[in-house]
Amino acid sequence: MSEHVTIFDTTLRDGEQAPGASMTVEEKVQIAHQLAKLGVDVLEAGFPISSPAQFEAVQRITTEVDGPVTCALARTKEDDIRAAGEALAAGTDTRIHTFIATSDVHINAKFGDERFGTSMREKREAILRMTQDAVEQACTYTDNVEFSAEDAGRTDRAFLCEVVLAAVEAGATTINIPDTTGYCMPDEYAAMIETVRGALSDPDAVVFSTHCHDDLGLAVANSLAGVKAGARQIECTINGIGERAGNAALEEIVMALRVRGDRYGIDTGINTPLLTETSKIVSASSGFPVQPNKAIVGRNAFSHEAGIHQHGVLKERTTYEIMRAEDVGQDEEQIRLGRHSGRHGLFRRLEQLGFDVPDDQRDVIYEQFTDLADRKKEVFDEDLRRLMESSATAPREGSALYYELEHVAVSIDTDRKPEATIRIRHTHGGAVREEQATGDGPVDAIYRAIDHAVQEAHALVDYTIRSISEGADAQGEVNVRIRHGENQFAGQASGTDVLRASAEAYVNALNRLAAFRSDDTSVQFVMDGIMGMFNGDAEDTAEEKPAKS
Ligand code: KIV
Ligand code: ZN
Repeated sequence: MSEHVTIFDTTLRDGEQAPGASMTVEEKVQIAHQLAKLGVDVLEAGFPISSPAQFEAVQRITTEVDGPVTCALARTKEDDIRAAGEALAAGTDTRIHTFIATSDVHINAKFGDERFGTSMREKREAILRMTQDAVEQACTYTDNVEFSAEDAGRTDRAFLCEVVLAAVEAGATTINIPDTTGYCMPDEYAAMIETVRGALSDPDAVVFSTHCHDDLGLAVANSLAGVKAGARQIECTINGIGERAGNAALEEIVMALRVRGDRYGIDTGINTPLLTETSKIVSASSGFPVQPNKAIVGRNAFSHEAGIHQHGVLKERTTYEIMRAEDVGQDEEQIRLGRHSGRHGLFRRLEQLGFDVPDDQRDVIYEQFTDLADRKKEVFDEDLRRLMESSATAPREGSALYYELEHVAVSIDTDRKPEATIRIRHTHGGAVREEQATGDGPVDAIYRAIDHAVQEAHALVDYTIRSISEGADAQGEVNVRIRHGENQFAGQASGTDVLRASAEAYVNALNRLAAFRSDDTSVQFVMDGIMGMFNGDAEDTAEEKPAKS
């Protein structure tokens, strides 16, 4: 039988303290509903004394959200505790969480005034009294009272034990040991929990809690070390948001306890398939994007790009995955295609998209894919569809290519007309011509330079460009049509560099025109494949248009 650890979510309190993360009351209520669905045990809804909006958020959450205990934060001050008690008054399952600083550095900074005493001992005694009074006052509102020794991580251990004892004697049922500044190492944090537990005659009569900040990137490791040392509540936030570097990330803790149940034997009761959705909701409300490589909920957390990993995962998922994507609400088997992908990943994805690539075409398709992947950070499904379409309509090996675009460069200057330099190889004969031209826009300049290079002007009937894949490095697809006598010839090209794609599309159209004029077998291909589309509607599109810029 696994033991239960209480998941205390403080996304709406400590998480919201992250600089720039403040949320509206409405957003907090929405997130609270989501956290309830997720299955958190305690939901710290806010710090009621700090503002009317915080008060209202606590009040609404405690009345509108079913499931978790609603908790409100208060300093060890009478007014704070009264505000927390009043904000929670309409709720049925509530907790007041009161805290006071206990480390020397905090005591010197916050309790310098002589009314707290003149020596460190006197000031510590004042803190013990304030702790006792605050916990007793909180107990008049609810029998569920949590006490936190702020900056416990840097607090003298003997004094920490005294404060904890005072809080427990006054009625606190949960004792939180915050590493407020993220200073502790995991073994140190575990030892601190053991020490304070050891100071109580019956440590199991109260719940010890971890609350770790991530200043050294150790918040999750410290929380887990605390659990090993006997803590049975973990305070954490979705996506690890919180003061400065943030708090321990809920999703990481929950999955660590689950995946490594062999070491902990602890159950959280969290509905893990909702983790990713919850992360997205919190990210949208807090305005903090989730980094792609974020453990558990990051976009890349279950994606495989390297060929060797893709091959391994496709054969046996557990080779490179220690948990199932669907268990945390991510899509199953995310094969991300990019420059490190191998053939297995590519052909598996193409198969999933419905393309049955014959063996004898695989080398060509893979080569086209690697060429595309070199130009794009990620190759999306739409990119693959375009690749398959263009390879299906591209002239087969051996068919005539009359012009090959070797180089294109465009210079754009706000004070001058754009200038393009083009280098084209005439494949029949091998001549290479490099030409320059200016134009009304960069595309116009390119097309004029190409016309010079092929020594013939062409009437551009149509030019369109559209984005055909996602992301900032999306591919643009260019379609052009040129007219020659009664006939029109189409050219298409796509790429992340839309000026190059514009040049390629035009050259493709010129190749079709050249093939049509020539007397070789490709004439039939052009006639059947391309001209069939346009012969009938030449009238509609006969008007010449200048090249688009
Ligand atoms: O980090 C901290 O010490 C806190 C307390 C209020 C628990 O957030
Ligand atoms: Zn904190």
